[in-house]
Amino acid sequence: MKHRNLRRYFKHGTLTQLSVFEAVARLRSFTRAAEELHMAQPTVSVQIKKLSETIGLPLFEIISRRVHMTDAGRELYAACLDIFGKIGEVEQRLAGMRSASAGTLRIAVTTTGKYFAPRLLAQFVERYPGIEISLNVLNRQALLNRLSGNLDDFYIFSNPPDDIDVVMQTLLPNPLEVYARADHPLADRRGITFREMANEPFLMREPGSGTRMVAESMFAQHRIKPRIRMELGSNEAIKQGIIGGLGLSILSRHSMTGAAHQEGIVALDVEGFPVQRWWYLVHAEGKQLSATGKAFMEHICQPDVLAPFRLATA
Ligand code: PGA
Repeated sequence: MKHRNLRRYFKHGTLTQLSVFEAVARLRSFTRAAEELHMAQPTVSVQIKKLSETIGLPLFEIISRRVHMTDAGRELYAACLDIFGKIGEVEQRLAGMRSASAGTLRIAVTTTGKYFAPRLLAQFVERYPGIEISLNVLNRQALLNRLSGNLDDFYIFSNPPDDIDVVMQTLLPNPLEVYARADHPLADRRGITFREMANEPFLMREPGSGTRMVAESMFAQHRIKPRIRMELGSNEAIKQGIIGGLGLSILSRHSMTGAAHQEGIVALDVEGFPVQRWWYLVHAEGKQLSATGKAFMEHICQPDVLAPFRLATA
């Protein structure tokens, strides 16, 4: 046993005896300690006697009816302050886990979820100002890695995993569109076929992206190989590529943040688009949600909470 030499302290009642000792040492009086602890004075004396026996040394000496600590008493008193201080710290942290008004919420969202998740969390923090939030923004594969490592309370995915047991809550529609520069020859055309769209140079997200996964499966369904002009690591980089005239891309309408027209980007009228996908709030099956986590789940399930994040269907 690792703590073999500490065995004497593992007796029933040691912690209570230490708290009695702490009061006597601080107040330098058995009588006042008994009053503070709502105990009879003989009980206080018995507790101190038992603790002295456990330690094997006297803790107090009474000289001229005044209580003095022995050297052993002073050592133990200093240790007591440490021990109770540590217990206090642990209790503070555990209180955060028991109550929704304090504690930390760890959440990770895919790079496309970043367009609404911070505002969604801001609403929650407004309701529970004592909560701390840690938000990670990564692509789908990186989120899957975090989920497997049980690193967060929640994940927001558009393409949740099918090989990990999870609990899912549908949040919002996530329409995907084909975007092009406003002066692109296809910009004013109606009823563009998938094949016509696929003839254009295409900007593809990086491997591991869920958006890329959907785009690839659409090309595969049509048995067409995309003409990938460039692979870019973020939606923002893709938008800059579109503006720069490098090609078209399939992106979530959420990534346009309402300013697409001002930025000179338009959604093309391609058959099968917009593709209607969804955002999901996900947590691992078997995850013991903290009080903060449960409060978040409850908060997000209220219909009026998500309403401001629904995009116009036009
Ligand atoms: P991503 O997000 O393209 O940033 O990976 C989409 C998803 O949630 O799958």
